[in-house]
Amino acid sequence: MKNYMQIFHGTAFTSKSPKEIEILKNHLFCINTDGIIEKIVAPNDPVYQTLLDAYQGKPNFHSVDEGQYFLPGFVDLHVHAPQWAQSGTALDIPLYDWLHTYTFPLESKFSDLDFAKEVYNDVVSTLLANGTTTALYFATVHKEASILLAEICASKGQRGLVGKVVMDDPEGNPETYRDADTQTALADTEEFIIAVQELAKTTKQGVYPVVTPRFIPSCTDEGLQGLGELAAKYDTYVQSHCSESDWAHGYVQDRFNKNDAFALNDFGLLRDKSVMAHCNFLDNDDVKLFAETGTAIAHCPVSNAYFANSVIPVKDFHSKGVEIGLGSDISGGFSPSLFDNIRQAVISSRMLEDGVNPNIPAEDRGMPNSRITVDEAFYLATAGGGESLSLPIGRIKENYVWDVQVIDTKLPTAKLPIFNENEDLHDVFQKMMYLVRPEHIREVWVQGEKVHTR
Ligand code: GUN
Ligand code: FE
Repeated sequence: MKNYMQIFHGTAFTSKSPKEIEILKNHLFCINTDGIIEKIVAPNDPVYQTLLDAYQGKPNFHSVDEGQYFLPGFVDLHVHAPQWAQSGTALDIPLYDWLHTYTFPLESKFSDLDFAKEVYNDVVSTLLANGTTTALYFATVHKEASILLAEICASKGQRGLVGKVVMDDPEGNPETYRDADTQTALADTEEFIIAVQELAKTTKQGVYPVVTPRFIPSCTDEGLQGLGELAAKYDTYVQSHCSESDWAHGYVQDRFNKNDAFALNDFGLLRDKSVMAHCNFLDNDDVKLFAETGTAIAHCPVSNAYFANSVIPVKDFHSKGVEIGLGSDISGGFSPSLFDNIRQAVISSRMLEDGVNPNIPAEDRGMPNSRITVDEAFYLATAGGGESLSLPIGRIKENYVWDVQVIDTKLPTAKLPIFNENEDLHDVFQKMMYLVRPEHIREVWVQGEKVHTR
């Protein structure tokens, strides 16, 4: 019999495909020293009893209690760490005003490393407590504070992908918050990449530098070109905002006479390792370009409801071969929870399909066949995020990492409404998707290490 670092025992839910959930009832999950799921053993497997006999009662055997379940950790594909400090405020004004009145002044304060430390410690802990085991972060323009965010992810055990934000255009950004000039922006980005790649060597779960032009209106052509070259030179991830709002989309049309997707691609910024947030105005050619370049979409349903009045057609984009994950977009989105974003993704998709307008006949409403199920939204928050990042995360499956949240449906102070001992497990799953709050998340594991307990 093989030796395992740890064995977990219980029932897990994971995505089999974008549409289908797989329920692994009372299975054993055998984890190796690298934190990878080496073997999953079903109760009818002959080795099952042998493993139970060998491991049960040992400190490295973890059996969950009745009413507790394993879910894959969430992958948040779009989150602005500094904006945690203003989450929930100013959601009623347009994007441009919100950026200039609230967001840029807030982000400019991250030149102060003490302030950065306070906010970044809190946001990383909060996301872990909400079940997010991997997060693709925008930091700010400040190199030191951006490195600090990566260090905090490293020390708290979260798989953080972190970008020092580039805003090098004196025209597009306030004087009080931007890179000194294009050369400095590129030099700082390169130093940032090297520092985070070094830091990564000290972590088990990995941390990654991300080339991060904020969005086209913040960057010069020279800056965008230089960032594309750095992404290729260091083979990094790339993230930006793409075709988010009427205003941002119109700006790029005026400047380049093309959509964001083609403009970004001209600068080498659409790569297999690129994740673009929002993407509300992608036309068919843009979608094709995303599929061809392997660029993924961070779908931000809460934020899109506020700033873009928009819902992306997830099913249509999936059918055209584009990878999609879910993003909280803190603080364009108010919630640090991908459970909340799963809920909003489902709700928004139904409005897209046939939202009522009394002046439009029922047969002409909306976009047919757009509604997604909660199973599909869960896929976006887990496996879809993993595929977008090309990492073995987001699934409870052999050769994937043990990034897991343990959900307690029987918490004495907040029991989920399960009154039948033999309730259908898919119904239990749906109740968890709609009703789980952070207090139900008992434990969070990243790469086989416990990073949060409640
Ligand atoms: N576009 C440029 N910057 C931002 C940002 O911080 N949040 C959102 N939602 N959109 C942006
Ligand atoms: Fe954003």
